[in-house]
Amino acid sequence: MAIEGKRIVLTGGAGFIGSQLAKRLVEKNEVVIYDNGHRNALKHASLENHANLTVIWGDVLDREAVSKAIAGSHIVVHLAAIAGVDMVMSMPSHCMRVNLFGTLNVLDACVEHKVSRMVDFSTSEVFGSYVYKAEEHTATQLGEVGESRWTYAVSKLAAEHMTYSYHKEHGIQTVTIRPFNVYGPQQVGIGAIHVFVVRALKGKEILIHGDGNQIRSWCYVDDMVAGALLCLEKEEAVGHVFNIGNPRATITTAHLAEQIKRLSASDSPVVFDEIGYPDVELRIPSIKKAQNILGYRPQVDLEEGLLRTIEWYRRIGMEEDD
Ligand SMILES: NC(=O)c1ccc[n+]([C@@H]2O[C@H](COP(=O)([O-])OP(=O)(O)OC[C@H]3O[C@@H](n4cnc5c(N)ncnc54)[C@H](O)[C@@H]3O)[C@@H](O)[C@H]2O)c1
Repeated sequence: MAIEGKRIVLTGGAGFIGSQLAKRLVEKNEVVIYDNGHRNALKHASLENHANLTVIWGDVLDREAVSKAIAGSHIVVHLAAIAGVDMVMSMPSHCMRVNLFGTLNVLDACVEHKVSRMVDFSTSEVFGSYVYKAEEHTATQLGEVGESRWTYAVSKLAAEHMTYSYHKEHGIQTVTIRPFNVYGPQQVGIGAIHVFVVRALKGKEILIHGDGNQIRSWCYVDDMVAGALLCLEKEEAVGHVFNIGNPRATITTAHLAEQIKRLSASDSPVVFDEIGYPDVELRIPSIKKAQNILGYRPQVDLEEGLLRTIEWYRRIGMEEDD
């Protein structure tokens, strides 16, 4: 059943996924975006001055401001995070602080204000470097201390444990989502497809870190948002963790670059460099649990998703670091 008449807070709602989720919820609900503006996709979301939308610029590390923003809400979706490998590696301690203490502040505010549902965005990175059809109950992997990349996965996994503990101890209805490589229009953070498309459209060199044989399953943003909406709506989702992704849209990074060149009629050269950090070699989700419990079925195949994405970046004329 679609969600209507609720007050819904989206932390990190100005970001890529949050701004698209806001668009889906704002017609029939009161949506509050709470974000510090570290990234901002809202400018592309055509939501300016929407009567049902309030934007509060604030930090999830600010306990009081978080509590104030959440007061009176029915649902909180917690997306605020330091994400993206380059960003995480440039500020690993800040990444851990935001992802851990930010989640704690949001959970405490949910208890204080008796929020009925809290949906937490985690990550597929909690499965580590080799992920073949990993199911939610299979063991997560903690990368070695000293490799900054893993601060993101470790902090997200700790936040998952925290979220579930609040469900057990405080009775909040929590759901955790593990997104697997999301792409599409309005992505403002640096992601492979965003960067490859922008460079292909400008005829610039497409740079691949490593040998290009890394394997990923790519999830079009509309399918991600559809999965998130099911997690907000369904009673059966409560207390669970769900992989949300598209295992059919699986490809090596080198082949992805070639597909983007083909679909955008680009003659950009593809070049490779050394990768200076541990990479994820293989990442394909099992989405059986989301299919069985939520009825989740990704709809957009890779070629269609890439075409839509290319079209959007062509229209907007965005820079790769926008
Ligand atoms: N996009 C993906 O492929 C992907 C994959 C796995 C997990 N995720 C998770 O999904 C969520 C949304 O991802 P996204 O792709 O939209 O990322 P994004 O970077 O576009 O959005 C995150 C938002 O959080 C905000 N933010 C960062 N620090 C903050 C702080 N201290 N206080 C308040 N707001 C803050 C940013 O300004 C940004 O708007 C994140 O939690 C991310 O870790 C995304």
